[in-house]
Amino acid sequence: MGRKSLPPTTLLFPTPVVLVTCVDEAGKPNIITLAWVGVVSSEPPMIGISIRPGRYSHACVKRSKEFVVNLPSEEMVRKVDACGVLSGRETDKFSSMGWKQVPGQKVKPPLIDECPVQMECQVKEIVPLGSHDLFLGEVVALHVKEEVLKEKGRIDIAKALPLVFCPGANEYWNLAKCVGHYGFTKGKP
Ligand SMILES: Cc1cc2nc3c(=O)[nH]c(=O)nc-3n(C[C@H](O)[C@H](O)[C@H](O)COP(=O)(O)O)c2cc1C
Repeated sequence: MGRKSLPPTTLLFPTPVVLVTCVDEAGKPNIITLAWVGVVSSEPPMIGISIRPGRYSHACVKRSKEFVVNLPSEEMVRKVDACGVLSGRETDKFSSMGWKQVPGQKVKPPLIDECPVQMECQVKEIVPLGSHDLFLGEVVALHVKEEVLKEKGRIDIAKALPLVFCPGANEYWNLAKCVGHYGFTKGKP
């Protein structure tokens, strides 16, 4: 089989797919689905999220300099997609999705209670890149539901049921099975 050269694009798959909560000027919460998301530093713990300037959430995060990264699980997929095609300009996504808001400890945007993991972030830097602006957020509080926690603070992936997005296919997938663990080739337990 040959190999085909295609126009250069960011064909990195899968990516995380997350629900980012933010608040507008009046303090009203909104939710945006994002796939251009990643870890950018461990110490301090930082996450980068890229948002197009035209999005309603862009103005919210830029003004308040705060956001929460909520990790959905696979059974939330329909609503994850809906939060990525509806705008907070016209829709109250929290009431439309029927999700429960939980106040954050350090930031104004609420946590989505149904998500197994939530990271409260404060924006340290905004980097305009072209189509998207990159918001670099420091994780200032982390919440994990007890039912997805194992011994030593590890995450029980079989219970968290993460959802990922596959650019190039434009599909949502779950994670089928574990095929190894960090350092297992060096005999790490
Ligand atoms: C799977 C998926 C991933 C998305 N990823 C991004 C992203 O990384 N950055 C972005 O600006 N928009 C992304 N979007 C689009 C926004 O979620 C969408 O435009 C949303 O309606 C904006 O909401 P808002 O107007 O309330 O901010 C994504 C949508 C979907 C369905």
